[in-house]
Amino acid sequence: MNIFILTGAGISAESGLKTFRDNDGLWENHRVEDVATPEAFARDPDLVQRFYNLRRAALADAQPNSAHIALARLQDALESHDGTLTLVTQNVDDLHERGGVSGVIHMHGELMRALCAACAYAWDIADDLHVDSQCPACGTKGSARPDIVWFGEMPYHMDRIEAALMRADLFVSIGTSGAVYPAAGFVHAARSQGIRTIELNMEPSLGSNYFDEARHGPAGRIVPEWTDQIIDHIKTGA
Ligand code: OAD
Repeated sequence: MNIFILTGAGISAESGLKTFRDNDGLWENHRVEDVATPEAFARDPDLVQRFYNLRRAALADAQPNSAHIALARLQDALESHDGTLTLVTQNVDDLHERGGVSGVIHMHGELMRALCAACAYAWDIADDLHVDSQCPACGTKGSARPDIVWFGEMPYHMDRIEAALMRADLFVSIGTSGAVYPAAGFVHAARSQGIRTIELNMEPSLGSNYFDEARHGPAGRIVPEWTDQIIDHIKTGA
């Protein structure tokens, strides 16, 4: 069986990381336009760097929760029975990797990576970025930005994502509000291929009606419940 999973901020909420749309449109008390757009970075790079430095510090204190870990168990079970798990996340945290999933596709970039706005080189970072941080490839000072897909920019890996979705037997959306495209459109692409679709979220997402099945509750509970059922099905063939 080939399972394609899309995750969003809701899967990391119980690890203590804030979601985007659960606080009157403010993300950590900032309007998204003030911190997550190329225009914001051009206008006030210091504010944007400090904002993402704080997100990186919060991530260092966070641990994967039972939902992240359940997906790693599911990947192991699938791969030992000739199946695959494609895990596409809108999250910029690394909790899927730390929970044990391999090959995670980060369509909105990663907090723990930097991107040079001058030469497009991207590299792993562990510490803060500053307005005068230097690119290790071209040496430009002040060109280093978080390797995060901001509003108005093109998500990463779309060709690979679309190909994997077309090969899937099951599409599962976890912890996402369905407010941001192209991820919000994956359910439609899956349906048009006759692929079964399931939503696991705290509450009905904007596209909830399009799913064949929806289960609502905290990811830390409903994701392990669902993976246990699927693993049972994989192992027994029932
Ligand atoms: P949102 O904040 O829009 O949605 C989070 C969803 O998770 C909501 O539907 C919540 O009900 C649900 N949720 C909250 N806590 C939960 C829990 N404990 N268990 C299960 N579900 C829970 O976040 P995303 O859909 O990920 O893009 O947002 C999509 C994109 O919008 C983000 O990747 C980001 C943002 O702009 C970029 O940064 C480019």
